[in-house]
Amino acid sequence: MRKNIKTTEAIFPMPVLLVATYNDDGTIDVMNAAWGTMISRDIVALNLTETHKTVKNIKERKAFTVSIADAKHIVEADYFGVVSGNDTKNKFEISGLTAVKSENIDAPIITEFPLCMECEFIEYQSGEYGCGVVAKVVNVTADESVMNGDKVDISLVNAIAFDPYTHGYYKVNERVGNAFKDGLQLK
Ligand SMILES: Cc1cc2nc3c(=O)[nH]c(=O)nc-3n(C[C@H](O)[C@H](O)[C@H](O)COP(=O)(O)O)c2cc1C
Repeated sequence: MRKNIKTTEAIFPMPVLLVATYNDDGTIDVMNAAWGTMISRDIVALNLTETHKTVKNIKERKAFTVSIADAKHIVEADYFGVVSGNDTKNKFEISGLTAVKSENIDAPIITEFPLCMECEFIEYQSGEYGCGVVAKVVNVTADESVMNGDKVDISLVNAIAFDPYTHGYYKVNERVGNAFKDGLQLK
C-alpha cells in the first residue's frame, strides 16, 4: 500500500554543488547548493537565496565556479552549507582546502575537488518562481585522477548526492546501465 508523505521536496538524487566566488578583498567564499542543475547544454541554474554572500559575490564579479562534492570531503562540503561568508570572513581558510584562480573567469577553482565548471553570470531571476542564478559554462576541468583516457569516469569521482527526505548524503559511484542503449532491447 502506498502512503502519502508530508513533503514536496521529493527528487532524488539532488547534487551537492560547491559554488566558489571571490569576496571583495580577494579571499574566497564557497557555499553548498543542492538546488541546481543544467537547464541546457551550457547553461546552469542555481536557486541561490539572494542574501547569501555567494550571490553578492557573483553579482559583483560576474563569475563563479561549481565543483562536484566527493565523499572524501563531506565535512568541508557540509560546513560550506551551514556557515555564511556574511558572518565568517575566513570561511574558506577554516575549511583547510586550497584553490587557484581560473584562467578564464574571475573565480577560484578548489583544488581538492576533481570536477569543476567555470561559469559566467548571465542573470539573477528573482520572484516566487525565478530560477535564481543563471550562468553560462565556459570551461570544465577534470583532474587526471578521475579520467579514463580522455573521458571522465564518474565511478572514480565518488560524488555525493543530497537526499532531501532525511537530509542525508549518499555516495554515487556504481554504474548500473547504459543510457540511450539499454532501453533499445525493448524497442
Ligand atoms: C545540503 C545543503 C544544500 C543547500 N542547498 C542550497 C541551495 O540550493 N540554495 C541556497 O540558497 N542555499 C542552499 N544551502 C544553504 C547555503 O549553503 C548556506 O546558507 C550557506 O551558508 C550560504 O553561504 P554564503 O552566505 O557564504 O554564500 C544548502 C545547504 C546545505 C547544507
